[in-house]
Amino acid sequence: MHCLDFSPYAENLKSHLETRGIQSQMSMHPFDLINRQPDNTMSTVIDGKAFAETLRSRIKKAVSELQAKHDIVPGLAVVLVGENSASQIYVRSKARQTAEAGMQSFEHRLPENTSESELVQLVEELNRNPQVNGILVQLPLPAQINSERIINTVNVNKDVDGFHVESTGRLSIGIDSLVPCTPAGCLMLLKQAVGDLTGQHAVIIGRSNIVGKPVAQLLLKEHCTVTIAHSRTRDLPSACRQADIVIAAVGVPEMVKGDWIKPGATVIDVGINRVADNSGKSKLVGDVDYASASEVAGAITPVPGGVGPMTIACLLQNTIIATCRQRQIKLPEAIS
Ligand code: GUN
Repeated sequence: MHCLDFSPYAENLKSHLETRGIQSQMSMHPFDLINRQPDNTMSTVIDGKAFAETLRSRIKKAVSELQAKHDIVPGLAVVLVGENSASQIYVRSKARQTAEAGMQSFEHRLPENTSESELVQLVEELNRNPQVNGILVQLPLPAQINSERIINTVNVNKDVDGFHVESTGRLSIGIDSLVPCTPAGCLMLLKQAVGDLTGQHAVIIGRSNIVGKPVAQLLLKEHCTVTIAHSRTRDLPSACRQADIVIAAVGVPEMVKGDWIKPGATVIDVGINRVADNSGKSKLVGDVDYASASEVAGAITPVPGGVGPMTIACLLQNTIIATCRQRQIKLPEAIS
């Protein structure tokens, strides 16, 4: 039998890494190069945009299946209070993608000075509306409104954001719940990039209720060792260098540098920050300094086109899951 000898290739790789000051991983198999970028960066780019497109097409099939078999059209209500420009863009995309998936989209826009009791009243109406299977109140809310009260006014069975205290509790003890969308998207991308996550050390930077804490719960469930780092963590770069998986969710543009990353680690960048580029035009960047991190990471999500598109796809999936639970029917085959 003819055996291919990859050792010269492996040696080249080793010296290539060393000239860039990166310690080569002697355990790296040359086949690991497959799927890597053709340019001189070493990371596999985790294509969230393509993944989300595939998921959305399965969701569309699932919606058709629900209509054909059960005469059900899932409905998602999205509520926006005020004029926050980023929120306006997100809400518009959510409504558009809901309709494109064949679901009913209910959009509610309320003025900045809406009172807490007015918003509670709207959420209670949506809770009672049988055509509405999922409710999302876009955050942040104006200062006069207590977000926690609103989140917990949403009927837990329609809580497609997974932010209700009961959804959070269920997730933390590992029983069935609607899972927050961005963390669910991160997990799908990680599993695609890494496969089995058992035993991996994940360092999550950021402890928000929307991303940091729920993604930690999901990774624990996947048998990862989980560290949640945050603004008061001592020596964050060295904590980060311990990680097989880095999840950056801090909202600080390009904070995580290449020399914070262990060679070969998987990097999931949740940040979406608008900054000025060299010519003064605005551009989107993540919480990770992509140029330096992609030189070291084994796989990395870009911004835009990484985690961002996954969030809405997971929201649509949650709407179908919520619909099926409410109607006590099986999940359509296309998404089960
Ligand atoms: N604001 C930023 N991300 C989210 C999200 O996932 N859900 C809601 N409701 N508001 C957000």
